[in-house]
Amino acid sequence: MPKWQALYYEEPIAIDHGEGRYVWDAEGRRYLDFFGGILTTISGHAVPEVVEAIREQAGKLLHSSTLYLIPPAIELAEQIATLSPVPDAKVFFTTSGTEAVELALLLATSARRSNQVLALRNSYHGRSFAAIAVTGNRSWSASGLSPFQVAFVQNGYRYRSPFKDLPDEQFIAACADDLRNVIETGTSGDVACLIAEPIQGVGGFTVPPDGFFAAMKSVCDEHGILFIADEVQTGWGRTGEHFWGIQAHGVTPDAIVFAKGIGNGLSLAGVVARADLMDSLTANSISTFGGNPLVTAGALANLRYVLDHDLQGNAREVGGQLIERLHSLEGTVPIVGEVRGKGLMIGVELVEAGSMTPSPGAATRVMETCKEEGLLVGKGGLYGNVLRLSPPLSLTPAEADDGYAVLDAAIRKAN
Ligand SMILES: Cc1ncc(COP(=O)(O)O)c(C=O)c1O
Repeated sequence: MPKWQALYYEEPIAIDHGEGRYVWDAEGRRYLDFFGGILTTISGHAVPEVVEAIREQAGKLLHSSTLYLIPPAIELAEQIATLSPVPDAKVFFTTSGTEAVELALLLATSARRSNQVLALRNSYHGRSFAAIAVTGNRSWSASGLSPFQVAFVQNGYRYRSPFKDLPDEQFIAACADDLRNVIETGTSGDVACLIAEPIQGVGGFTVPPDGFFAAMKSVCDEHGILFIADEVQTGWGRTGEHFWGIQAHGVTPDAIVFAKGIGNGLSLAGVVARADLMDSLTANSISTFGGNPLVTAGALANLRYVLDHDLQGNAREVGGQLIERLHSLEGTVPIVGEVRGKGLMIGVELVEAGSMTPSPGAATRVMETCKEEGLLVGKGGLYGNVLRLSPPLSLTPAEADDGYAVLDAAIRKAN
């Protein structure tokens, strides 16, 4: 395995099996899963309805090629098109978020006949050349080679923003003015698109004020610049208040990139875009594995589970209570710089006591203690100093209490 394949923990663990919100490692130790395989496990581990759908499809057909109609893929595409805010939507399935980002950027740059793209600072969009090119995080940018001219704009991450002391309305206006200035000074005006995560995932669950993207999009609209929402982490009700993260901003995107949660662990991703945009490619394109019968049958069962059990509502309730409790650490535990998030997407930014200096060491210590105590949490942020909490959306109040107790003690110990 390559050394750049990042692994968690001093002594990495192998996850052997799971059930509900719990996983067990290869040595039989049980953990409460507060990271959900980087937000992929959305319904829970080994959900019987999803497992059965996969088993049934595996026994029936694994044939894979988009040259033939795939009934579960068609049904799933119809459901996603209906659930999305994109008008007159078409859907294309891929196997990974990276590949879906590639498609969204291909569509926008082809439709606009422009290779200029705007992206947010501190963003993460994947591991191909195009996805790395729009990734604004040095730790995840292995190459400067780019198919695009990319300009990076403000991301609304108030805690580390030059505009952080402004009230919401002025903060948003300052970021939008900055975007206008970047377009005027750093591009030739005919930019293809802006790609943005509604809440930055790898970037440390940074939450811009509601309405932020409406202001950014209205500047884009002045130039005909398309808006791509990368909902790989924020989709499917994860943020509690909305099904898609971008809906907090009253924005209708031209395209949405989705992945992770839709498959609950199966490798499924894709793009939902306005029909005219989706159809704008001037050459054929296929995906051998994208939307194959196994993953789309599983995803259909998973989506049904998410909707039937109102997991979005559960994320709002249980996540809301968890965020409340975590907020109590702000101002009382000196290494807690900021607690932020929506639904079950919660970030805890750790700093050197009483300062704003990022403390990746504290994040590592908290993660290790949590692991010892049977809790898995994630990490992110430009400096690796933000704890990321993103359990399956089926988390129960009792499990939230248990996880909180371990986390609270671990943070206090790292202080
Ligand atoms: C917002 C976002 N976009 C794209 C990707 C890339 O997805 P994948 O790892 O499936 O290629 C990720 C992965 O973490 C992501 O968080």
